[in-house]
Amino acid sequence: MTTPRPETLAKLTPVLTRRWLSPDAWRIGTYENLDGYAALRKALKAHPDDLIQLIKDSGLRGRGGAGFPTGLKWGFIPQGDGKPHYLVVNADEGEPGTCKDLPLMTHDPHSLVEGVIIASYAIRASRAYIYIRGEAVHAARRLRNAVAEAQAKGYLGRNILGTGFDLELVVHSGAGAYICGEETALLDSLEGFRGQPRLRPPFPATHGLYASPTVVNNVGTIASVPYIVLGGADWWKSMGTEKSSGPMIYSLSGRIANPGQFECGLGVTLRELIELAGGMQPGHQLRFWTPGGSSTPLLTAEHLDVPLDFEGVAAAGSILGTTATQIFSDQDCPVYATYRWLEFYHHESCGKCTPCREGNYWMVRVYRRILAGQGTSEDLDTLLDTCDNILGRSFCGLGDGATSSVTSSLQYFKQDYLDYIEGRTAPKLSDKQLVGAH
Ligand SMILES: Cc1cc2nc3c(=O)[nH]c(=O)nc-3n(C[C@H](O)[C@H](O)[C@H](O)COP(=O)(O)O)c2cc1C
Ligand code: SF4
Repeated sequence: MTTPRPETLAKLTPVLTRRWLSPDAWRIGTYENLDGYAALRKALKAHPDDLIQLIKDSGLRGRGGAGFPTGLKWGFIPQGDGKPHYLVVNADEGEPGTCKDLPLMTHDPHSLVEGVIIASYAIRASRAYIYIRGEAVHAARRLRNAVAEAQAKGYLGRNILGTGFDLELVVHSGAGAYICGEETALLDSLEGFRGQPRLRPPFPATHGLYASPTVVNNVGTIASVPYIVLGGADWWKSMGTEKSSGPMIYSLSGRIANPGQFECGLGVTLRELIELAGGMQPGHQLRFWTPGGSSTPLLTAEHLDVPLDFEGVAAAGSILGTTATQIFSDQDCPVYATYRWLEFYHHESCGKCTPCREGNYWMVRVYRRILAGQGTSEDLDTLLDTCDNILGRSFCGLGDGATSSVTSSLQYFKQDYLDYIEGRTAPKLSDKQLVGAH
């Protein structure tokens, strides 16, 4: 493992992660000793519209993948409409490689709870939900404990801190379906229906949970709010880049010495992140990587110096997504990695629309054929053609995301496919595994 140079270490900007290593960081006492709930006291003295303006001024963009401006989203909630308003936190975190929200909720659940209270006050919601995936039992326990602690201290419930503001916060465990991270499928699931995306418009801002105005935000987005309230918009903008402000938790996994979460200003590069993580594992050379989870097109060693912000990654032909950088080496096969991701999309496809339901099923079968040494060069055209028919024609982003690694691996690593097809690489799947994609 190599030691990062001081100038690279200086790239670390622990904001959302700064309490994670404190003893009992999840307890309210620790949280309060480290500025916890100070932002709430400050926020409750402000007018809700001023809080929305503050979030707009900070330039905070959603941490759930799409990078939508948060203040703008909150501003879409109609005021004085006589309907209940809801805040829903998306804590589903099902994208392969993504692991920033779970550690946040496990180590520092109160930062999310405090963010929920401030955001609910800003959009005038008196009921909020955290929708967490069912498997995340430990994080859900920590959250429920945090809610009970906050309630006991008067930060939640009726007449919060004597201001007359009421908020009930419910932690709801889903059943563990990737599609329930898509915000409208999440709302259906929360309402007790099967989790499948809704047709938009109307958008959740006017017709969300129970057909009422609803903000859906990622865990990292909402947990950023107390820091912005305390530190101010200019301080937030002093980190990151002009259009991608603030710090971001980058999750590094794969062939690196020290995998985990590294919080840096948006715009850090993979070269710097790998250095922070102690370098590649001995004997491994970087070959390909995802900048933001398996739904984002692969990048290669050529892209080590791309700024990892929304604009920089887009200019390199990919998507920042959830900043889940999965790192693969010269000892990993891009064809096999793509096949494994496709198995995931095929399994998780909700079946509502034909391009995704049938296309992923079809592509899994083609990959199996190639990996069993029985592919043809026509199969590569079939894959590209299938992707063409999924991308932009699917009902939601799951279908689009499934095509990312297929098209990008064919763009950068076509030779690896041909090596299977022309017999230079030994088959990875047996004849038995070839059939029966279910
Ligand atoms: C298939 C699919 C899965 C998604 N999973 C998540 C998720 O687990 N967490 C999340 O915050 N956003 C997820 N999203 C994005 C949400 O639909 C939505 O954009 C996000 O929750 C908005 O929050 P933000 O503005 O704070 O980023 C997913 C989208 C798709 C298409
Ligand atoms: S793209 Fe896939 S997950 Fe999304 S609605 Fe269509 S079938 Fe369901």
